[in-house]
Amino acid sequence: LYKRQAQTTLPTFLLLGPSGAGKTSLLTLLDRGTPALTHPSQTPLSIALSLPPSIPASSSRYRSPTDPSYARSRCLLLTDTPGHGKLRHFALSRLTSSSQNIRGIIFLLDAAALPSSSGLLEAAEYLHDVLLLLQKRHTSAKTSKGPKAIPVLVAANKLDLFTALPPALVKISLEKAITEIRATRAKGLKDSGVGVEEVDGIEEEREWLGDGGEGAFEFKQMEECDVVVEVRGGYVMGAEGADVDAWWGWVGEQL
Ligand code: GTP
Ligand code: MG
Repeated sequence: LYKRQAQTTLPTFLLLGPSGAGKTSLLTLLDRGTPALTHPSQTPLSIALSLPPSIPASSSRYRSPTDPSYARSRCLLLTDTPGHGKLRHFALSRLTSSSQNIRGIIFLLDAAALPSSSGLLEAAEYLHDVLLLLQKRHTSAKTSKGPKAIPVLVAANKLDLFTALPPALVKISLEKAITEIRATRAKGLKDSGVGVEEVDGIEEEREWLGDGGEGAFEFKQMEECDVVVEVRGGYVMGAEGADVDAWWGWVGEQL
């Protein structure tokens, strides 16, 4: 009973990203202290966590650790989702559901897969779709009270591998790939003639990620719809253990 109640009220962080990024490895690491052997996930899995003592939570900055609300304000729910292309509805439906108290999205990717064009394309397409959903959520909410904006952490995983791209390059590569995806999608819509002329371009604009410009896509453009995107690196399974502090730090900033 307690668990069910907790699931509806605790601030929730959704763990998204392509298959093989290390999402379940990260979840099990945070749950047990060591990552478990994993298989490709088929269903979502949520666990309750507390922010580690070394990580500040922005809401409890001025609270004393002896204050009972201090511990409560550091609790969160982490939801792992399957990354396989055919199972992403699990993740995306949670994103659009209003019953969840979603405080942030952790988009985990394998930074060592990005130098390959197929690896980059897979990550960028999924991220494009997630950002487009967040943008639509913002646009359609303007009339009513409106849901709170959801920030996105792009977590560049597997930095223990020497082939991995550093976070700054992960950011540039993704922005470039999303620029191309955006253009391809817009062209596809035009070629198929899907409701472009008949609605004075409104429909077309809605499908276009970021500000109206034809130029390059930058994550910064998402701030126009209140979505702040950050890229931070780490690893779950290095030779000397894990380094996930940058990601925890981000989670603390959202709490
Ligand atoms: P799906 O469930 O299919 O969406 O994949 P997932 O994102 O849950 O990936 P999973 O956690 O199953 O990890 C995939 C593989 O990556 C596993 O073989 C892990 O051992 C490996 N892996 C995860 N994190 C790291 C890391 O930081 N470094 C290295 N070198 N390997 C990692
Ligand atoms: Mg998994």
